[in-house]
Amino acid sequence: MCGIIGYIGKQKAAAIILEGLKRLEYRGYDSAGIALLQDGHFEVAKKAGRVEGLIKGTGAQKLAGTTGIGHTRWATHGGVTDANAHPHISSDGRIALIHNGVIENYAHIKKFLLTKGFTFKSETDTEALCNLIAYHYQKEPAAPDSSRFLESVRKTLRHIEGTYGIAVLCTDCPAEIVAARKGSPLILGVGDGEYMLASDVSAIISRTQNVVYLKDGEIVHMTAKNFSITTLGAEDVSPVVDTITWKIEDSELNGYAHFMEKEIFEQPAALENTMRGRFSEDGSTAQFGGLNVSAVDLRQVDRFHFLACGSAWHACLVAEHLIERFARVPVEVDYASEFRYRNMPLGNGTLFFTVSQSGETIDTLAALREAKRKGYKVLAIANVVGSTIAREADGGVYQHVGPEIGVASTKAFTSQLLVGAMLALYLGRMRDMSFSDGVEYVKALKGAPDLVRQALEAAPQIKAIAQRYAHYHDFLFLGRLALFPVALEGALKLKEISYIHAEGYPAAEMKHGPIALISEQCPSVFFVPSGEMFNKVVSSMQEIKARKGKIIAIATASCDLPAGLADEVIRIPECHEAVLPIVATVPVQLLSYYIAEELKRDVDKPRNLAKSVTVE
Ligand code: F6R
Repeated sequence: MCGIIGYIGKQKAAAIILEGLKRLEYRGYDSAGIALLQDGHFEVAKKAGRVEGLIKGTGAQKLAGTTGIGHTRWATHGGVTDANAHPHISSDGRIALIHNGVIENYAHIKKFLLTKGFTFKSETDTEALCNLIAYHYQKEPAAPDSSRFLESVRKTLRHIEGTYGIAVLCTDCPAEIVAARKGSPLILGVGDGEYMLASDVSAIISRTQNVVYLKDGEIVHMTAKNFSITTLGAEDVSPVVDTITWKIEDSELNGYAHFMEKEIFEQPAALENTMRGRFSEDGSTAQFGGLNVSAVDLRQVDRFHFLACGSAWHACLVAEHLIERFARVPVEVDYASEFRYRNMPLGNGTLFFTVSQSGETIDTLAALREAKRKGYKVLAIANVVGSTIAREADGGVYQHVGPEIGVASTKAFTSQLLVGAMLALYLGRMRDMSFSDGVEYVKALKGAPDLVRQALEAAPQIKAIAQRYAHYHDFLFLGRLALFPVALEGALKLKEISYIHAEGYPAAEMKHGPIALISEQCPSVFFVPSGEMFNKVVSSMQEIKARKGKIIAIATASCDLPAGLADEVIRIPECHEAVLPIVATVPVQLLSYYIAEELKRDVDKPRNLAKSVTVE
């Protein structure tokens, strides 16, 4: 939430920062702003609304200067106004600052600063941080400007409770940026005669692939020629420069109307990338290079505990089903945000998994830290390489699906389903699953990308259905067993991008309450698999039909549905039960996407949402 960017070098900073802000906009789009240092003063442009509005409304791209910072906001403290937009300038005019995070003790700091003559123009927590840096800067007039600037940031941060990724400018230091992080992501890009800062790599990948992932409690001091990293305690840190493998094309639309659409259609390739090199030579099991837990130790685990939020939590529910079914080990799944504050009894043989596309979700990160604090090993399933969760985990699995930019998770979700299915196989083969069952399972997983390709072929049919159903205000999504979490995911996708109320339920639970919602005005989306659940699901459909409810059935190819029972039937291929949740997800992604498109919603930037939820 909130995207931050900084540039220092020889080029005009405004164009580079604004371009970066457009790429970071998915992190928050309530307001945008930039500040550049020019001849010892700040040139500032900021405005409520999108980056495009900032450019058109303020002429921000014309601002001069080769050192600057920029911000795109997801509002926490204070409404969506020009005054609350970042950057904030200290009331003495010397410090400019952008911030991603929440300053929990800002009220106390503000009260103190008011007694020292500082004034405030916004309702934000950030302005207190900005003025506190100016206060510390004023207190040390004898020190050289550069070290005084750095130390004033360091001193300030020692008093801060909460989370921050910040970048700071000072009028006395015309070619310097000081930046720091705690709990919010921040990356330093090392370019050719230039340095950049950003909340994530997508903002800087067009200029450099060399990055330093800053850690919590680190402060970077940059000039156009070099940079140094120290800790809050002023200890030197030796930087490690990593190379990003993502390409600039990965974060562009490439002819698609929206990132969500692009990412839905990228799923076959994304799944191939997730599974590449992860099957054993004998073709009977999965293998993971980075788990950092030996087979012997995994054999001792008597419970897996998964922690995640949102769509990633749905993926964990599917993993629970598959691991319990194929490996016969109990699995617990918790919302990361709840786990942090619950005090549940945990057994000694528990192994934790955190699942997070961004690797930065604050609740998931806090849950990871809580589990580690309790002495447990925690592994991560994450997409963003070098993300905080990936780094703080004891080991794990990278998803390798490339950047996911649409706010609604699609390819990252199905890739998480795949990793869960592969884990179930790996753990199952360590226990009771036979060699031949393993071989069949591996074959099925390898076939998943093609089955997803086939499911995508229904796109024109689903678009036509979406056009017929876009005017309904309520939907139910109903599935059983591993398709129940897919029903939850379908309901979430529809809610978040089309703003239509939707709920997911296990199909048989419908009779215990939700059936009261059924009328001609509330369609139901049913997942209908062949096999043992077929007749049960058909009975639930009959109950809906008897109450005049409209039915959209997502049915596997061989399901022989009674004539006239479903109003719409979307066919998906028959598949192994470990692959079915992946394939069944595709039609609900497309349905949500096309309904949102029909309603002319802002698909990639739905209202009130932001990708990567870095505030609690
Ligand atoms: C929904 C969605 C969110 C995320 C959730 C966790 O489409 O994208 O529900 O799944 O915010 O995000 P990560 O996986 O980055 O931890």
